[in-house]
Amino acid sequence: MKLCVAFDLSSFDECVNLAKELKGLDIWIKIGLRSYLRDGVRLLEEIKKIDDFKFFLDLKLYDIPNTMADACEELARLDVDMINIHASAGQRAMMSIMERLSKLSKRPLVLAVSALTSFDESEFITLYNQDIKNAVCNFSKISYESGLDGMVCSVYESLLIKENTCKNFITLTPGIRPFKEDSDDQKRVANLQCAKENLSDFIVVGRPIYKAQDPRKICEDILASI
Ligand code: C5P
Repeated sequence: MKLCVAFDLSSFDECVNLAKELKGLDIWIKIGLRSYLRDGVRLLEEIKKIDDFKFFLDLKLYDIPNTMADACEELARLDVDMINIHASAGQRAMMSIMERLSKLSKRPLVLAVSALTSFDESEFITLYNQDIKNAVCNFSKISYESGLDGMVCSVYESLLIKENTCKNFITLTPGIRPFKEDSDDQKRVANLQCAKENLSDFIVVGRPIYKAQDPRKICEDILASI
C-alpha cells in the first residue's frame, strides 16, 4: 500500500514547503484542482527539483470523448505518474483516452472516479437513482473493460471492485483518517486498518497531514503502520 499526500494548500509556497518537509519519504504527491488551477505546471516543476516524488494529477476530467483524449494526452506530456477521469464520462470516452495514450512512449496510470467519498448513500441515490455499491460495480466493470488501470473509490468499495474485475485493478481510496481525525466534509471515511483489510493500493490523506503541527511525523507514522 502506498501513501498519497493531497497537496491542497492555499499557496504555492506552502505546497513547496510541505514537499521540502516530506523530502526523502516514500510517498506520492497528489496535486488537485486547487493547487493546479492556481500554480499550474510551475508547481510540478518546483517540487520535482526537491525530490524524486511520484505525482498523481487529480483533475477528475469529465467531457466528451475527443476532448478528454486530447486533455489526457496533454497531461501525459507533463510527465506525471497518474491521472484520473470521472467514470460517468462513459466507455467511449475511456476507450478514446486509452487508445490515444497507447500511442505515446510512456503513459501515466489512468484511474476512474466512481463515487466521491464526500457522498453518503442517500445523497448519492438522489443524484444517480441507484445505490453506491451497484453504481461502483457498474463503473468499475466498464472502466476495467476499457483498459483503465483502476478506480478512485472509498475503502468500502475496494474489495468489491477487485472481486468484480481483478485483484491487480488498482484501488485508490481518499477519505482516510489514519488516526481517527476529524472527517471534515468526507462521509465515507476509514482508518488505516480498514484500508489494509480492504486491500486498498493507495490511500489518500490530505488535511490530517498538511494541517498537522508536524506533517512529517504523521507521514512517518502512517508509513510505519502500512
Ligand atoms: O483532506 P482530505 O484527506 O479529505 O483530502 C482528500 C483528497 O482526495 C482531496 O484532495 C479530494 O479532492 C480527493 N478526493 C476525494 N474523494 C474522491 C476523489 C478525490 O476526497 N472520491
